[in-house]
Amino acid sequence: MTSSNPSPAPAFLPTPSGSYVVPESLPTGGIEFSLVLPTFKEAQNIQPALRAVCDTLSQVEGLRYEVIVVDDNSPDGTADLALSLSAEMPAIRVIRRTQESGLATAVIRGWQAARGEILAVMDADLQHPPEVLGQLVQAIRNGADLAIGSRHVEEGGVSDWSILRRIVSRTAQMIGLVLLPDVVGRVSDPMSGYFLLKRRTIAGKPLNPTGYKILIEVLGRGTIRSIDEVGYVFRERQEGSSKISTRIYLQYLQHLLRLRFDLLAQSPFVRFCVVGATGYLVDMLLLYWLSDPRSLGFGLTRSKIASAEAAIVNNFLWNDAWTFAPLVGAARSLRSKFRRFLKFNAICTLGLALSVVLLNIQFNWFGLNRYLANTVAIVITMLWNYTFNKRLGWRTTS
Ligand code: GDD
Ligand code: MN
Repeated sequence: MTSSNPSPAPAFLPTPSGSYVVPESLPTGGIEFSLVLPTFKEAQNIQPALRAVCDTLSQVEGLRYEVIVVDDNSPDGTADLALSLSAEMPAIRVIRRTQESGLATAVIRGWQAARGEILAVMDADLQHPPEVLGQLVQAIRNGADLAIGSRHVEEGGVSDWSILRRIVSRTAQMIGLVLLPDVVGRVSDPMSGYFLLKRRTIAGKPLNPTGYKILIEVLGRGTIRSIDEVGYVFRERQEGSSKISTRIYLQYLQHLLRLRFDLLAQSPFVRFCVVGATGYLVDMLLLYWLSDPRSLGFGLTRSKIASAEAAIVNNFLWNDAWTFAPLVGAARSLRSKFRRFLKFNAICTLGLALSVVLLNIQFNWFGLNRYLANTVAIVITMLWNYTFNKRLGWRTTS
């Protein structure tokens, strides 16, 4: 990996899990804006693209910028061409990756070395018109966390794409909408490869994209509150060729599925339900042991109270260490843990009262099987427990 910059780019490699982390900030040298141009075999485009980009950026009022080319060791000498231009235009930096490849990870690699508070990406093949950069910077300066060049808002479009390519593009977007409605549905052009964002929206968060769709990764894992979109027309390629392939489409699907799974696994409600399932086992086994006529045969209410209390202890330990870990933060002392346990217990005891009432109504009035009745009681009680524990039990400790 080489860099034209005197201060060498820190060697930010992917973590063992394969994800990349953009640091909170690097020494800025007064830089406000860092634009990454990912390249693979763009020898004919890179110099005109860099000139056009620097031209536009130097016209944006008061903007101190850098342009970072991240090249995956293109055999046509793209990196050297960029490097030779950097003698004339010191805002240009070049990173050459030799061990890794792929558009989305190249972009993150560039952001890892970036010094600006505003991070950006655009293609290096002149298909993204640089003239829109000014408006995009303005959108961020006006307060947007994310400013996207969009083909699907007013003033946007795709020049002369074939019907087939339009259908493929829209289908990809539809699949994304079905799998990740809260992510893909937030913007009109989630497939865009042309956007700006504030560093803090993604700093410190592990990013793990594959293929082309870096924007979806940012929307899925970043903390993005406000979004602005600026229309642009996707130009025809004049030189070189697109690197899109069937493999890239498959990577897109893989990316969507990974993101879907990760976001579910991180959701506190899903975690609460998983913990609840272990509590359910504890509760059921104990209830059987204590109350079943073939076992100890104690009264149902007494047995239920004991089995539920055991489940409460089980659930507290898992929820404190896992489900609500982000809310616990630094409050890890035994004392604060015990306080949380008391609160959890109080909320769950109310839940337990609810549960006992529900169980008895079903069992005694409607003659339902005790285990079915207990299941219904547990599900309803869990919704109660989640809502109030999240609001009162853990939220207040953070
Ligand atoms: N470093 C690196 N590594 N760069 C790559 C790689 C790679 O493996 N593959 C492609 N690039 C670079 C290209 O050199 C170009 O600068 C840019 O990424 C876009 O690649 P194209 O192959 O030209 O993509 P496209 O034109 O079909 O689609 C682009 O524009 C769409 C509309 O914004 C991409 O950005 C899409 O993601 C986007 O939807
Ligand atoms: Mn292109």
